[in-house]
Amino acid sequence: MGEHEHMSATRDGYDAAAEEYAELFRHSLRDYPLDRAAIAVFAELAAGPLPVLDAGCGPGYVTAHLRDLGLDARGVDLSAEMVALARRFHADMDFRIGDLAALDAADASLGGVLSRSSIIHTPPEHLPAVFTEFHRVLAPGGVLLLCFQAHEDTSQLAWPFDHKVALAYRLSVGRVAGLLREAGLTEVARQIAAPEEDPIRGFHYANLLFRKS
Ligand SMILES: C[S@@+](CC[C@H](N)C(=O)[O-])C[C@H]1O[C@@H](n2cnc3c(N)ncnc32)[C@H](O)[C@@H]1O
Repeated sequence: MGEHEHMSATRDGYDAAAEEYAELFRHSLRDYPLDRAAIAVFAELAAGPLPVLDAGCGPGYVTAHLRDLGLDARGVDLSAEMVALARRFHADMDFRIGDLAALDAADASLGGVLSRSSIIHTPPEHLPAVFTEFHRVLAPGGVLLLCFQAHEDTSQLAWPFDHKVALAYRLSVGRVAGLLREAGLTEVARQIAAPEEDPIRGFHYANLLFRKS
């Protein structure tokens, strides 16, 4: 499947599922204390004059959480329906339609990029382009928080799984960290939640924090 075809399928899937997804997950951060902790550290390190981007923001509740933590946060998502919902829920915030691999942001213009459960829909061979794009838009010292369904095995990069909305992959923590380093980013910390902490699938869940030096 080519990149374009894959993106269309992801977009169509989330356009169709947007209302249901928002209903299910809009208030879900309260059920994920480990994610909240990782996001709090990200917010502290990204604080400053530059805006931060929630890349693959869905209905925008993480973006709003970042705003509540004091950041100038904005969101981008492939799905027009998701962006419409995000705008409806948070009318005072900036949400745009766009692609992780072609962000509408100038070089070195962001203090932080957060991408939560979004890179899982990118075909693994296209992940390096996404990470290069995150590196491009981050200012020196800017931070990236990458959150994804994970695997501790490093023998391969990705394992497809039966995601309800669109084709998705669990990703090797070690391999993803290696690709981020190849994109020019430096590791700050990694938090790997045990499978038992994921009530839906029972996968490891990774929050990787990297910095642009
Ligand atoms: C599982 S949802 C996560 C939404 C939100 N980050 C959250 O934590 O609830 C995945 C989101 O990533 C978006 N997405 C997937 N691939 C994308 C891409 N290439 N560019 C932008 N958004 C993308 C989808 O449209 C969807 O809204």
